[in-house]
Amino acid sequence: MKQINIAIDGYSSCGKSTTARFLAKSLAYVFIDSGAMYRAVTWYLQQAQIHYTDTPGIIKALSEIHLAFLPVPESELPLIHLNGECVETYIRHPSVSNEVSEYSTVKEIREVLVHQQQLIGKNGGVVMDGRDIGTVVFPEAELKIFLTADLDIRVKRRALELKAKATEMSEADIRANLLHRDFVDMNRQESPLRKAEDAIEIDTSHLIIEEQVLKVKALAEKIILAGSTENLVNS
Ligand code: DC
Repeated sequence: MKQINIAIDGYSSCGKSTTARFLAKSLAYVFIDSGAMYRAVTWYLQQAQIHYTDTPGIIKALSEIHLAFLPVPESELPLIHLNGECVETYIRHPSVSNEVSEYSTVKEIREVLVHQQQLIGKNGGVVMDGRDIGTVVFPEAELKIFLTADLDIRVKRRALELKAKATEMSEADIRANLLHRDFVDMNRQESPLRKAEDAIEIDTSHLIIEEQVLKVKALAEKIILAGSTENLVNS
């Protein structure tokens, strides 16, 4: 069966990672949360007190960072590790959320991470979510999805997510953070967040996770099946 790449992009807290995770599981594909990679680099640079404007400092630090998604006993899915340490908990902290968009504007960071993401997807079979997956990382992806949702709903979803992780953040602060990140992500010079021309837009405001996943899965299966028929005809 043909293994395709699926790109899921969109604004913060539209359900990209959740959709990508469940979809990957049901197709037996690899799930990659590219935002976790930007968060991990941000966390490392913050710890090392390297500001996002300090390009030489960032270039040096990037050569010291090794990222990998590795299995851990407490999680069904592989989690992000930085130099061998699982950093999943640290990278979801508001201190990282507050600056990750600024660090993500840095060209040198994007070049390194995009290269790693492209290597992961070189043989297909990957569901990757982010901001530039359909436009820059996998411009040839067989399926590109662009998720949207109403701001109020995104705020509520993020609040629930943080509560589940026992992290305190008021709804007003969450709203401000989402708006800020969307603005920086859409207006940066390097690969800004935008919908790829051939992406299919899905508004998740009134969908539950299962519905979102089923919608994308149906689109994916159509492409996978068509590809397999093509292979048969050409062989
Ligand atoms: O998906 P997330 O909210 O965890 O992503 C955190 C930030 O990382 C997001 O605000 C912008 C940046 N990001 C990016 O610039 N490109 C990606 N492909 C993924 C994330």
